[in-house]
Amino acid sequence: MKDKLSKCINLKVTDYVPIWFMRQAGRYLPEFKEIRKQNPDFIKLCLNERLSAEISLQPIRRFDLDAVIIFSDILMIPYGLGQKIEFKKGIGPILGDLNFNVILNTKPNDFIEKLSPIYQAIKRVKKDIKDKNLIGFAGAPWTLLMYMLNKQSPKKGFDINNIIKSKSLMRDLILKLEDIIFLHTKEQVKAGADIIQIFDSWAGLLPEDKLSEYCYIPTSKIVKNIKSLQIPVICFPKGIGKNYIDFCSAVEPSCISIDYEVDPHWIKEKLNGIPVQGGIDPKILLGDKEEIKKNTEKYLNIFKNYPYIFNLGHGVLPETKPETIEYIIQIIRNKK
Ligand code: CP3
Repeated sequence: MKDKLSKCINLKVTDYVPIWFMRQAGRYLPEFKEIRKQNPDFIKLCLNERLSAEISLQPIRRFDLDAVIIFSDILMIPYGLGQKIEFKKGIGPILGDLNFNVILNTKPNDFIEKLSPIYQAIKRVKKDIKDKNLIGFAGAPWTLLMYMLNKQSPKKGFDINNIIKSKSLMRDLILKLEDIIFLHTKEQVKAGADIIQIFDSWAGLLPEDKLSEYCYIPTSKIVKNIKSLQIPVICFPKGIGKNYIDFCSAVEPSCISIDYEVDPHWIKEKLNGIPVQGGIDPKILLGDKEEIKKNTEKYLNIFKNYPYIFNLGHGVLPETKPETIEYIIQIIRNKK
């Protein structure tokens, strides 16, 4: 097992801190912006296997990170289920009306066929990397359900009761999403992904009494299925605060990705040795070098002799300078 993240997660090796960044392929990179300019339709870009592979590899060429994450989007699942999606400049994703019958009746083979360029892109990337992990991903059922029903990113004052239709419809949608998310991750694994990350970016919107039904239970089923393929699963239930511990007991992820609101000392004490990823606030990367160094070293010191993957507490912000990523890597590798 040459790959650094697998060693950290499976063997709990602590003498090397693997590094990758959520949203490492993205708008802070001039070479991405160049391709994006010529490809105004974001969904089409995600379905262009050549460009998708190329974009996935851009941050690796620049920074020699320990893992590639495939360039795609969590909203490719609603797209594969027949919901219209558009990415509007300055606004973000806008989803079309949702047709329950179309979604609930989507056949697995038709879904795989529609998203096959993603799996082809993974195969291309796999050929180009040695000694690096290849991360496939999906949104968690709750976060996908939220986008599918709310049809855009949630605004301040979001109330789950405004998007819940009938109870039985919600249950049917969640069950469908559980199957389709597993299917999508399994196809990514078949194509060459050797780790899966599940993004529950909007878990923090759930009231505490709904976390179990909408987050823990559906996610735990998917995690169990992916683990049965001998593939480790990193979970990122962003924004659930002290409930991170209950999440870990209920879901048993192979590794837990913490957001910037989680106290790293606290979680390390509570976790019973589950490998940890991430933590540092992406906004810190927009500030001065002293602060960046102090905060990077803070996480390294807390997780010294603990299986830890360096990453941020959310994705790289578009305003981040590529040199800042370079600088952090140098700090971790003891060059600065
Ligand atoms: O490098 C990587 O991490 C791989 C690619 C990746 C993208 N999206 C590309 C992308 C990944 C892993 C995602 C996941 C994703 N997508 C999440 C979960 C992670 C998170 O940030 O919480 C979510 C919630 C989405 C949905 C989404 N996609 C939104 C809300 C937006 C618009 C706003 C934004 O954050 O950019 C996107 C667009 C998107 N996905 C871009 C990229 C590079 C920007 C597209 C552009 O305008 O050029």
